[in-house]
Amino acid sequence: MPGAPLLDVAALTVSFATDRGFVKAVNDVSFTVNEGEILSIVGESGSGKTVTLLSLLGLTDRRTTQVEGSVLFRGRRLLELKDREMRRIRGKEIALISQDPMTALTPVHTIGWQIVEQIRAHDPVSEPVARRRAIELLGEVGLPNPTEAFTRYPHQLSGGMRQRAVIAMALSCNPALLVADEPTTALDVTVQAQVLELLKRLRKDFGSAIILITHDMGVVAEVADRVLVMYAGRVVESGTTRQVFEDPWHPYTWGLLASIPPVHGERPARLTSIPGTPPTPTNLPPGCGFAPRCRLRFTPCDQPPPRQGEGDRRALCFISEDRRPAARATVLPQFGGAA
Ligand SMILES: Nc1ncnc2c1ncn2[C@@H]1O[C@H](COP(=O)(O)OP(=O)(O)O)[C@@H](O)[C@H]1O
Ligand SMILES: [Mg+2]
Repeated sequence: MPGAPLLDVAALTVSFATDRGFVKAVNDVSFTVNEGEILSIVGESGSGKTVTLLSLLGLTDRRTTQVEGSVLFRGRRLLELKDREMRRIRGKEIALISQDPMTALTPVHTIGWQIVEQIRAHDPVSEPVARRRAIELLGEVGLPNPTEAFTRYPHQLSGGMRQRAVIAMALSCNPALLVADEPTTALDVTVQAQVLELLKRLRKDFGSAIILITHDMGVVAEVADRVLVMYAGRVVESGTTRQVFEDPWHPYTWGLLASIPPVHGERPARLTSIPGTPPTPTNLPPGCGFAPRCRLRFTPCDQPPPRQGEGDRRALCFISEDRRPAARATVLPQFGGAA
């Protein structure tokens, strides 16, 4: 369908079987990803980001996990596909860079061998052709000496180089969608910036859409076109990166924004982080999931919050539009109190 999004996720809900029955780790999550777009999913650890991804890729354990909702990718309903069909899509049309880059690599084979295997698993090309393409890819992701890197084992590369090799492997089939789960978390700041640059270049050169998971609002600001802010299994705010940074609606987003160091001006003595920890699926509060940690909570917050906004610009919160600026200024003074 022309104009249809590449990926359309609607009312995705994921429940795990526990000894206290099923608990929801992801609840009513809806979003779209357009061709060539970078969407960031941001939230603290335990928000449900990884579970969201794994479930839409058919990678959750069917025996213990119940996945509801619909996931439409290029006209196919992914949640209804057989494992075999899903495997064909993963790695070829959708590539995953998982949270731990080492899980993507086998220690006992060279980087080159692994990329060649990956290419040939989806594309019946000869070994020399696959080899040439692998070396080309290693060069494209910025490995300084790709021919040599090809012959290296994972442990012989630095963390940043290894992450580039994993990205090269993910790109080897020219996926329409690249899903990257905290790809820079384990890297130092300089290398992190290089990997983010690389992701942006890939979108430009290969036209891949990217879902980038992170817990870092700084990363979002750097690369994303649109943002989903997740908390306690729900999307609490969504919008374009610009909307979310210039006019954030949800107190949780305010808290995340308050914890990134300012690029300009004086650094505060201490960055405010949000006190407390996120709930787990087994102890979700009855109303708004964020209420127990929210400085602005008031009586209605014991009930499920209403959805504000429309389309891709939304938030789940009781604070009405007219009260928002003053409330926000208590967390983010730089926004001022007036609308
Ligand atoms: N297989 C599982 N069984 C039960 N609970 C799980 C399982 N996988 C994840 N969870 C729980 O679901 C919540 C969301 O996890 P996750 O998606 O990994 O968070 P994030 O990636 O945002 O850090 C966490 O509280 C986690 O402990
Ligand atoms: Mg995760």
